[in-house]
Amino acid sequence: MNSVQSGVQRALLLVDPGGYMSETLRVRPLTSSIGAVVEGFDPTYGLSPSGAEELRQLLYEHLVIFLPKVTEDPDVHMEIARVFGEPIPHPVQAGMGAPTQLLSPIKSDAYGPDADSEFHTDYTFHHETPDAAALRAIAVPTRGGDTIWANMCQAFDALSPEIQKLVNGLDAFHSQGERFNELIVQWYGETEGRRIAKEFPGATHPVVVSHPVTGRRVLFVNPGYTRSIVGLKSSESKALLDFLFNHMRDPRFHCRYHWSVGDIAIWDERATVHMGEGNFWPERRELVRITLGSALPERAADPTALTPA
Ligand SMILES: [Fe+2]
Repeated sequence: MNSVQSGVQRALLLVDPGGYMSETLRVRPLTSSIGAVVEGFDPTYGLSPSGAEELRQLLYEHLVIFLPKVTEDPDVHMEIARVFGEPIPHPVQAGMGAPTQLLSPIKSDAYGPDADSEFHTDYTFHHETPDAAALRAIAVPTRGGDTIWANMCQAFDALSPEIQKLVNGLDAFHSQGERFNELIVQWYGETEGRRIAKEFPGATHPVVVSHPVTGRRVLFVNPGYTRSIVGLKSSESKALLDFLFNHMRDPRFHCRYHWSVGDIAIWDERATVHMGEGNFWPERRELVRITLGSALPERAADPTALTPA
């Protein structure tokens, strides 16, 4: 019995290989690695204590869950998001004088088609990083514009024990990079943009972190924001990061989701990376994200001291 079933102690009925349903929800895993579509969400049950617990267990089990065509109402989006954590402002928006702004727009007209087209965990250039996020589709293109998530627990587990030991003791430097800074200047003007870029000089995190809920080890680097490995020569740092970035691009760790208006995706920011595909231009794509929880990533224990998960 898996943790979802045992965790919520609900009567579950196997309906097809890899799929199952509870009294109210039908769960359809997208891959053997990550991602599940959850159908039949009803706010009366889903926002109740037992419904919320079931949804959280599904998130920890599948790392990203999708509620198809669930709402176009921002208030319902916020209620669903709160099931998974406390909404927090994006640190850059907070730094720009909007400390109560809890919505992060992701608009193709503002970002261009390629700004999200690299794997990342949201704002790892900050010392505290988010726990989870809930993204709702407002406008979708007629084709393309999918989002891909990767299971970074599995990516770590798939490394050989010797590489696991090597990366487990390392730290990496993360920063937002020139592209991000250019966008900030574009949005907020030269003076404010330069000021905010200086306010976020980057952050150092362990290369392997411990998931705060499941305790699983997570490979915590991403090509969007990770710039170097601390203490290595630049050629060594580049070679190791290139290897890890190529490793996480292996499709066996991935799921893909094609958006419809009103869909909500909730993902575990600690255990995943994600990217939006820019293959819809010049059509419009607009989503809005609520970021949930924030904490310092914690170094994982030495893998040689642990029993296998
Ligand atoms: Fe993102």
